[in-house]
Amino acid sequence: MAPWNAEVIKEKSELKRLKFALSLCMPFVATALQIYFWAYINPFIFLMFYPAVFVSGWLGGLFGGVISTILSVLLLLWFFVHPIHSFFDAQPNSYLAIAIFSINGFIISFLFHRIEVGKAIYAANQRAYNMELERRVRQRTSELVEARNQIASFASEQDRAIEQERRRVSREVHDQIGQIFTAIKLIIQAIPRDVIPQDQQDALRQAIDMGVVSTRKITAELRPPLLDDLGLVAALDYFGQDVARACNLACEIRVKNDRQLDPGIALGLFRISQEAVNNVLRHAAASRILLSGQTEGDRYIFRIEDDGRGFDRSTTRKGAMGIISMEERAHLLGGDCTVVSAPGSGTRVEVTLPLEREQLS
Ligand SMILES: Nc1ncnc2c1ncn2[C@@H]1O[C@H](COP(=O)(O)OP(=O)(O)O)[C@@H](O)[C@H]1O
Ligand SMILES: [Mg+2]
Repeated sequence: MAPWNAEVIKEKSELKRLKFALSLCMPFVATALQIYFWAYINPFIFLMFYPAVFVSGWLGGLFGGVISTILSVLLLLWFFVHPIHSFFDAQPNSYLAIAIFSINGFIISFLFHRIEVGKAIYAANQRAYNMELERRVRQRTSELVEARNQIASFASEQDRAIEQERRRVSREVHDQIGQIFTAIKLIIQAIPRDVIPQDQQDALRQAIDMGVVSTRKITAELRPPLLDDLGLVAALDYFGQDVARACNLACEIRVKNDRQLDPGIALGLFRISQEAVNNVLRHAAASRILLSGQTEGDRYIFRIEDDGRGFDRSTTRKGAMGIISMEERAHLLGGDCTVVSAPGSGTRVEVTLPLEREQLS
C-alpha cells in the first residue's frame, strides 16, 4: 500500500508540474539552439522544433504538447519565417508548412496522451489486482488460522479422550487381571503339595509373578500410577528408577514446584518425558539423563538432557513423529518445545509451559 499514501501522491503531482513546466520551455530551447546554429541549418526551419514538440508531449502530455506546439508556431513565425519579426505577410506555402507542423504537433501530443492514459489504466488495474490479491491472502490466512485452531482443539479433545480411555483400560487391567492372578495364586496354594511336583509348582508361581509384574508394568505405562495421587515428581521418580534399572544408566530427577502445575500440564510433561527418555534409550547411547523443572514467573521450564551422541535435526529420518509430537503437545498446552542438539554434544529438550492450561479459542 505504501506507494499510494498522501506523501507519495503529493510528490507525484509536484513531479508532474515540474515536467509540465519543462515541456513549456522546449520551444524556447529550440529557438535558442536554432538561432545559434542558424547559419548551418538554414533553411530547415522545423529542424529543432519537431524534437522540441516531441519532448514536450513526452514530458507534459496532451496539454504540454499542444501549448508547446502553439508556442513553437509563434516563435517560428516571429524568428524564422520571412518576413521575420512579424506574424503576418508570409508566403502561403510557409503558412501551409506551419499548419502541417501544428497538426503533427497535436497528433504527437495526442499520442503521448494515449500512452499516459494507457499507463494509468494499467496502474489502476494493477492496483485493483493487488488489492484483490491481498484481500484473498487475508481471507485465506484467516481461514487457515481458523482451521488450525479447529484442528488444535480437536487434537486436544482427542488427547483428553485418549487419556481417559487409558485410565479406564489401566483400571480394568489392574482390577480384573490382577484379581485373576490373585485367585490363581490362592488356588495353587490350596492344591495339596503332592498333587503337583515341586518344580512345576515353582514354575507356576514364577509364571504368575511374571504375569503380576507385567500387569503392573502395562498399567503403569497406560497411566502413570503416582501422577494423580502424588504428583509429577513422584511419577517421574518411579519412571526414572525403572529406566535406570532396566537400561543401566543414571537418571536424575531435579523437578521443583510441581504442585503448582495444572494436572493437564503435569500429564503433558510426563508424556513428553516418556517420549524424550525413550529417544535417549533408543538413539543416544548416553550414560546419564537429567530431568529438571522449575517455575520462572508464570511459566514452567522443564528440561530433559542427556550426555549421548547428539544429532543434527536437519538429517533426522523423514516421517519421524516423536519430536514433532512433543512439540505439538507443548503447543496444545499453550507452550513451546525446543530440541537443542549437535553431533557429539548430547541433547537437550526444553519445554516451556504455562502453569495453568490455556483454553484454545
Ligand atoms: N536424545 C537423542 N539423542 C540422539 N539422537 C536423537 C535423540 N532424540 C532424537 N534423536 C534423533 O532424532 C530422530 C527423530 O526422533 P523422533 O522424532 O523421536 O523419531 P524416532 O524416535 O521414531 O526415530 C531419531 O531418529 C534420532 O536420530
Ligand atoms: Mg522417538
